Amino acid sequence: MQLEALTDETSTKSAGDNTRKVFVKTYGCQMNAYDSQRMADALGREGYERTDSPEDADLLLLNTCHIREKAAEKVYSELGRIRRLKEERAGQGREMLIGVAGCVAQAEGEEILRRAPIVDLVIGPQTYHRLPDAIARVRDGEKVVETDYAIEDKFENLPEPEKKAIAARGVTAFLTVQEGCDKFCTFCVVPYTRGSEMSRPVSQIVSEARRLVAGGVREITLLGQNVNAWHGEGDDGREWGLGELLRHLAGVDGLARLRYTTSHPRDMDDALIEAHRDLDKLMPYLHLPVQAGSDRILKAMNRRHTANDYLGLIDRIRAAQPGLALSGDFIVGFPGETEGDFEDTLALVEKVRYAQAFSFKYSPRPGTPGAERTDHVAEEVKSERLQRLQALLSQHQSEFAESCVGRDIDLLLEKPGRLPGQLVGRSPWLQPVIVDAMSSQIGDIIRVRITRTGANSLFADRI
Ligand code: 5AD
Ligand code: SF4
Repeated sequence: MQLEALTDETSTKSAGDNTRKVFVKTYGCQMNAYDSQRMADALGREGYERTDSPEDADLLLLNTCHIREKAAEKVYSELGRIRRLKEERAGQGREMLIGVAGCVAQAEGEEILRRAPIVDLVIGPQTYHRLPDAIARVRDGEKVVETDYAIEDKFENLPEPEKKAIAARGVTAFLTVQEGCDKFCTFCVVPYTRGSEMSRPVSQIVSEARRLVAGGVREITLLGQNVNAWHGEGDDGREWGLGELLRHLAGVDGLARLRYTTSHPRDMDDALIEAHRDLDKLMPYLHLPVQAGSDRILKAMNRRHTANDYLGLIDRIRAAQPGLALSGDFIVGFPGETEGDFEDTLALVEKVRYAQAFSFKYSPRPGTPGAERTDHVAEEVKSERLQRLQALLSQHQSEFAESCVGRDIDLLLEKPGRLPGQLVGRSPWLQPVIVDAMSSQIGDIIRVRITRTGANSLFADRI
């Protein structure tokens, strides 16, 4: 999954004092952001309103990420701070329940209660549909740990979001179509925390998409740990892949734009590439992690493709959709990575020229094959390689942004900008674009000309 910088504190204003309030803090990927919304939807039906201040919360939920050690450790430092908050509230005679959800909950289970006794509830990502019941048990004084795999039940039993909850999402929304992973890359915890691959049925996806659009959403990003491994029985009785699903969703009235993330190179089939060629609503942007450029390291990572396979695939995708911008993920310092292997990564980056990229130092994760290896790369070497890689990636990213200047694009306006009269949207290639568009409204798609680049965004004029 593509990771957001961190924490999106999900919020709506609180109502009267009798309402219970929930504060949800999200770490990690977009799928966690989506799950946080669905958990809050489910709790809304139990009388919980969302709040954006942890001090006011009757229930505080941390939706955690286990992808790298740093992400996982953050949870425990956060729980340290929360302990003081809980004690303060107890001093005022008010109870505060603490829940840990997400991938750390799945990976560590009971251990969380041992390390942080203030926690009342540990709930893994496959069991969110049991959240209301679990909360009821916690309120009866029980400590609850729910980490069974029951992914098929999750979406069937999670209540559909209400109109009010959808309106709070804005004009863009995530929609999970697939969860889990069967690829077992040797660095990755996801197959252990999110379980094996599961695709949601077409009818569920279409119904959620229609509901989102009816609530004002104009752009939907389909989510999955391996989103392009999605498959299911289509309306025509045939087996569909993600390409067919996108084609079908492009027919949903009122839906203006589609995106999807994150894809594995092995699952990029012809139908999906053709969807990029044919569908105007499918944005010309693809997050296609490669992780490394050396065949030796790709093999050790169990990626099941070579650097040339990946480059060949990119050529085919670009031939189908020449305007497509690519984004990727990279890991430096996987066990056994030599300077030569790392230079292969740089060489691959030079060939692809990513519009955007995310890069990380390898972090050994307990229970994964990579962590068992004895030939770990020294921390200083990882840091030095990461710096070199990031310098190259950000050079390409700036060059891509510069190449956008002068282009005319359709911009979906998502939110107000910092200055009066400014609105912000995303370019087809996912860059934030700032425009003076006083007479336009959020949710409008307007034609703009990109005039200059900013630090992390583009500026445009209405045309
Ligand atoms: N160490 C460092 N980075 C990792 N990622 C996944 N597992 C690890 C790990 N153990 C990165 C990959 C993945 C992204 C979401 O996080 O690049 O694509
Ligand atoms: Fe998302 Fe993976 Fe982090 Fe879980 S461990 S939150 S699936 S990135």
